[in-house]
Amino acid sequence: MIVAQITDTHLTANGTLHAGAIAVNDKLRAVIRRLNELAPDVILVTGDLTADGKPEEYEQLRDILGEARAPVYLIPGNHDDANALRSYFPRHSYLSTEGFAHYVVDDYPLALIGLDTTVAGTHRGEMCAARLDWLEARLEERRGKPVLIFMHHPPFRSGIWWMDAIGLKGRRKLARLVSRYDNIERVVCGHLHRPIQTRWAGTVGSVAPSTAFFVALDLGGQKFMTLHDEPAGFDLHVWSERDGLVTHTCSLERSEGFVPDGLLSSEALEKVRAELKRIEAEIEAADDRDGPA
Ligand SMILES: [Fe+2]
Ligand SMILES: [Fe+2]
Repeated sequence: MIVAQITDTHLTANGTLHAGAIAVNDKLRAVIRRLNELAPDVILVTGDLTADGKPEEYEQLRDILGEARAPVYLIPGNHDDANALRSYFPRHSYLSTEGFAHYVVDDYPLALIGLDTTVAGTHRGEMCAARLDWLEARLEERRGKPVLIFMHHPPFRSGIWWMDAIGLKGRRKLARLVSRYDNIERVVCGHLHRPIQTRWAGTVGSVAPSTAFFVALDLGGQKFMTLHDEPAGFDLHVWSERDGLVTHTCSLERSEGFVPDGLLSSEALEKVRAELKRIEAEIEAADDRDGPA
């Protein structure tokens, strides 16, 4: 099963560039074309779907995501308006008509739990008592089944202080809840506009890169509020019974694929293929002999 995660698309009204320079809508279009080639089973979009939660921005989102071949699941971020989101995606029946936009997708071997961490009127997020109770009930129902949680605000610090400042209130309580379960494969987030991984609450926490723009790697506090127009990125979370969840952080390729000069003849390539098959079989035979990890 392949779960694609795109995030922080920050779409603008038709024809408008982000900060007057970045073609964020075209970047999302290119990512959707690439995902259609990669053929994921589902596409999660982890918030900050639009620049300002405006109707004309959701129209763009609906048009561009309409090109995706895989089913798309949306959660809001701090730049969204949950009610506008619902009204532009009426066929996304997993979105409740009111209240928090939480839901579970149970149609796959990996259960997908979406959390709405947004708080109207502020850029920070929150896991309040009601949201924690809802999550606990969903986790209790799925004990023993592999689970992936997706949410906009990461429940951990990145080291970029001005992004961490608009972090997740209630993150310690969320960590205590998540650490009680051994079937949560990963907690995947957005908001930070950079690819990030950390060990968190007994599982793996990660942030996918934005399709729109990057936040500067400002670990020393010298690049306050600085953004970069980097290539659009996304994560592919690949689930299998054998290997568990393996995540590939990707960016759009800037060239056609090529092989190194020394392998341009088909004979040379076949020789290397045969050697790699031999090594692969040797490692797998050792796995079989050694038993489970
Ligand atoms: Fe964002
Ligand atoms: Fe955000």
